[in-house]
Amino acid sequence: MFNFKIIESNYYLRHLSLLMVKKNKVSLKDQIVIEKLPQHIAIIMDGNGRWAKGLGKLRIFGHKKGVSSVRECAETSAELGIKYLTLYTFSTENWSRPKIEIDAIMELLVSTIRKEKETLMKNGIKLQTIGDINSLPTKCASELTKTIEETACNTKMTLVLALSYSAKWDMINAIKQISTKVKDNSLAIEDINDITINQHLSTRNLPHPELLIRTSGEQRISNFMLWELAYSELYFTSKLWPDFNKEDLYEAILDYQNRERRFGKTSEQVS
Ligand code: FPP
Repeated sequence: MFNFKIIESNYYLRHLSLLMVKKNKVSLKDQIVIEKLPQHIAIIMDGNGRWAKGLGKLRIFGHKKGVSSVRECAETSAELGIKYLTLYTFSTENWSRPKIEIDAIMELLVSTIRKEKETLMKNGIKLQTIGDINSLPTKCASELTKTIEETACNTKMTLVLALSYSAKWDMINAIKQISTKVKDNSLAIEDINDITINQHLSTRNLPHPELLIRTSGEQRISNFMLWELAYSELYFTSKLWPDFNKEDLYEAILDYQNRERRFGKTSEQVS
């Protein structure tokens, strides 16, 4: 009963605050509780194609506009104090798209990394990747390696690009590595646990995301961080990725901050 009231009052407070925002009394950003920020936000950037189609343009036009949202979200996250931002940029399954679109995305990736190096340095952002980087075109892989090295000393935030990545690809690799260790007797089957799995995934140096955002109205995970998202809060918005801006990011964070994270416990235990 008591906890029900807390939830109820949270609900009214949230609506009251949104009303105040609408009346320009208090900004969304000002409502964010810095002490309750997620450490790691993961985003499935979706809707570039539909955004372009809506304007009667080619899909690549949407991807190009999507870069502005990437920049805005990375800068805003770093400014707020988010420590890790992971962007699902190109999935294993995206290799099945028409070659012309794949080539255009790879070109865009190279030109964006080159152009945005300054943004990364200015904001203290370290670049990292997860995924099968060797499968990317050589120019793309070498540009990434160069930027990863050049931004390695930045400490404000880590921007992780998931490229040629899928959670199943990552899990298969982890299982292969673990099996090899069991086979050569350097690991006992009884010792395999949560930590063992974590240590063999490409996300091994990242905390699990507390918040996953997916744009474009689709409500699915699409083979993204299946292990790591086990207890993440999921936030879906109908905004298409090229339209997603910092206000939308604030709104997602505020929504997250109003959730009760129970991790299988009861409400009484966590309150
Ligand atoms: C999903 O929209 C988007 C992608 C597969 C590509 C994302 C790439 C970018 C935002 C540009 C480059 C990014 C960086 C980090 C430099 P979709 O094409 O699936 O859209 P649709 O569902 O409307 O077809």
